[in-house]
Amino acid sequence: DERKCADSGASAPPAQPVPVRRLRRNRKAAWTRRLVQENVLTTNDLIWPLFVIAGEGQRVPVASMPGVERLSVDMAVREAERAATLGIPAIALFPYTDPALRDERGTEAYNPDNLVCRAIRAIKQAVPEVGIIADVALDPYTSHGHDGVLAGETILNDESVALLVRQALVQAEAGCDIIAPSDMMDGRVAAIRTALDGAGFQDVQIMAYAAKYASAFYGPFRDAIGTNATLVGDKRTYQMDPANSDEAMREIAMDIEEGADMIMVKPGLPYLDIVRRAKDTFGMPTFAYQVSGEYAMIEAAAANGWLDGERAMVESLIAFKRAGADGILTYYAPRIAEKLARAL
Ligand code: PBG
Repeated sequence: DERKCADSGASAPPAQPVPVRRLRRNRKAAWTRRLVQENVLTTNDLIWPLFVIAGEGQRVPVASMPGVERLSVDMAVREAERAATLGIPAIALFPYTDPALRDERGTEAYNPDNLVCRAIRAIKQAVPEVGIIADVALDPYTSHGHDGVLAGETILNDESVALLVRQALVQAEAGCDIIAPSDMMDGRVAAIRTALDGAGFQDVQIMAYAAKYASAFYGPFRDAIGTNATLVGDKRTYQMDPANSDEAMREIAMDIEEGADMIMVKPGLPYLDIVRRAKDTFGMPTFAYQVSGEYAMIEAAAANGWLDGERAMVESLIAFKRAGADGILTYYAPRIAEKLARAL
């Protein structure tokens, strides 16, 4: 045996200590690995972001997000039905707004008959059991691609909040279940909560994009909603500096104080430390957004044969659970839900 070998002969290497603790024992077979597994991903953890576009019977691919399409309202209804069949609890809607409808102040955002409102109504009617989340931010509707009102080179905070409140109200009126402010203006959660309550929407939840970073990983999303080409400058005066963590805790604390029911960290994978810290600090329902660029990276590498896309998808999603996320907004929602259903 090993020890006898080590003891024999003067030139033999010193005896190697035999490990008493062997963590590999618990990993020796699939059944024991299953037994000791600490975190699980289920379909209940998924929120599926969908892009909507005007027209009928439309499915327009997003070049930088292989497998993701912009859907006309009728097609979005079909996908919402698929979400219901798969057991995905909620979807999140994002509009590609006709450039002719975009202006300086994002007027279309608070048009009660805009694309998102039409999609909310149609989906609520067809599949009332699926939760609908709508983003509050002006960027799909502004000619300059910013989330608020641009004056010179400044995004005006309070003026923007006044418009965001109107946007939230038309979405709630259309039947939206969760309002998700993604604009990063100060004070918007309180303003939206007050307005919702005042209009009789006490039960409409707020999922605050509480810690949202100025990230390069949003690139493909901006292709999908058509703001990449038009965005003037960047969003660093309102979205957070990727170098900061304490500040994220202050952002989250503020949104909770103002009435957020759920908090979100965005992007996802590069910010898992923020997810963990947020969950430990606040104990709130905590969500992470695996954003467009994260999806695109995995898909691009998989398409090149540089990694196993299926395994990378599963691994990335369980990482969110390990970090403490209660749920994940992910473009993989239907694919992982189908895989989880097959595994049962
Ligand atoms: C809009 C918004 C963005 C995303 C969600 N809501 C883009 C941005 O802030 O520029 C990004 C989502 C993704 O990349 O998947 N405020």
